Amino acid sequence: MKTLLIIGASGLMGQRVLALAKKWMPEVRIITGSRSGGRQEPTDLKVDILDETSVTEALVGVDGVINVVGPYDYSPTVLIKGCFAAECHYVDLAEVPEFIQSVYEQVYKEKKDASKTVTVISGCSTIPGMIDTMSASWQEDESVVRLRSFLSMGSKNPTSATLIYSLLLPFCDIKRNNFEYLTTKILRFGQKRLYGNHASPYDASGMSWRGGSIPAEFWISFDRRLYSYLLKLSSYVLPVFPLPWVKLICRMAQFFSPLINQLGTTQGSLIIEALDKEGQVIHQISIYAEENGLNIPALPSVLAIKKSFEAQDSQSCENLSQLLTPEAFKVALTAEGYQVEME
Ligand SMILES: NC(=O)c1ccc[n+]([C@@H]2O[C@H](COP(=O)([O-])OP(=O)(O)OC[C@H]3O[C@@H](n4cnc5c(N)ncnc54)[C@H](OP(=O)(O)O)[C@@H]3O)[C@@H](O)[C@H]2O)c1
Repeated sequence: MKTLLIIGASGLMGQRVLALAKKWMPEVRIITGSRSGGRQEPTDLKVDILDETSVTEALVGVDGVINVVGPYDYSPTVLIKGCFAAECHYVDLAEVPEFIQSVYEQVYKEKKDASKTVTVISGCSTIPGMIDTMSASWQEDESVVRLRSFLSMGSKNPTSATLIYSLLLPFCDIKRNNFEYLTTKILRFGQKRLYGNHASPYDASGMSWRGGSIPAEFWISFDRRLYSYLLKLSSYVLPVFPLPWVKLICRMAQFFSPLINQLGTTQGSLIIEALDKEGQVIHQISIYAEENGLNIPALPSVLAIKKSFEAQDSQSCENLSQLLTPEAFKVALTAEGYQVEME
């Protein structure tokens, strides 16, 4: 029997990852961990991912790790080293380019010992993992020159200070020009969403494409136009605050969530578009969630670990599209009750 350790399982996203892992991998033994863990269940460990001894002890007998410890503004070195030492697979939900880069830098160092076949996928969530994988089949079409993704979130969904901070962190860097542009998009059933451009792991060198790369944009919105205007305002205001203050603001913002929840909906969507050189949309994938939209970013990590466990021949992957096809994603998302349209 394989053993999966979910670190950060007591958090908002970790709870979703845990529930999905139980559902999609009933044959796997699941243990959980966090700094405050170990209180009730014997399968809930006390582990600090920044502490080498704690990580080494937690990884004894573990075959795979899902790291849901956000915000991803710390060094992943201890955890990646630990996973290679224990020869266990590793995935995380990071969207922070510096974190993802640090993971693969460490993987490169560890890979010098070629006998270890460990799968490591950083960014195994909506962005970049799912967007990369869902759009992979378009790589055969030479007319695709650019990609853009539009994520819309329902403001009635639960949130955490960490999620708000992760959303706002790029706003603290004035050079990243978040929400400099606003654009309206009409979704199915005529719902209008006002999107702003948002920093993404594609900003530095685009999306890997046919052995090279192409530009990829990432736009986000909520279900109320007001929030897009507030985010635009934040892009001017937040750069003047030190990061600990921004963290505090995010914690305080949580007090308003009951009010925000009253005004919002649970509907979310992700639209991925491929464009030709005339700027025409030639392929599109649309994913709609009526509710439970937060399970969408949680699902890729679970599917990736499941696939890694199932792989008969020992292989090491560093890319979600090596493990999953767009069709496999469609099947999983549909099974979870989401509507997926692929054109
Ligand atoms: N890439 C994407 O598309 C995407 C989409 C959605 C979410 N996300 C990411 O998901 C992340 C998770 O957010 P969340 O709302 O679930 O956070 P959260 O509710 O604050 O949970 C954080 C969890 O990590 C644990 N933790 C914190 N520091 C730790 C440490 N040093 N060692 C071990 N455990 C530690 C916490 O428990 P203790 O405090 O007890 O340790 C808690 O269980 C966010 O950063 C967000 O960016 C990414």
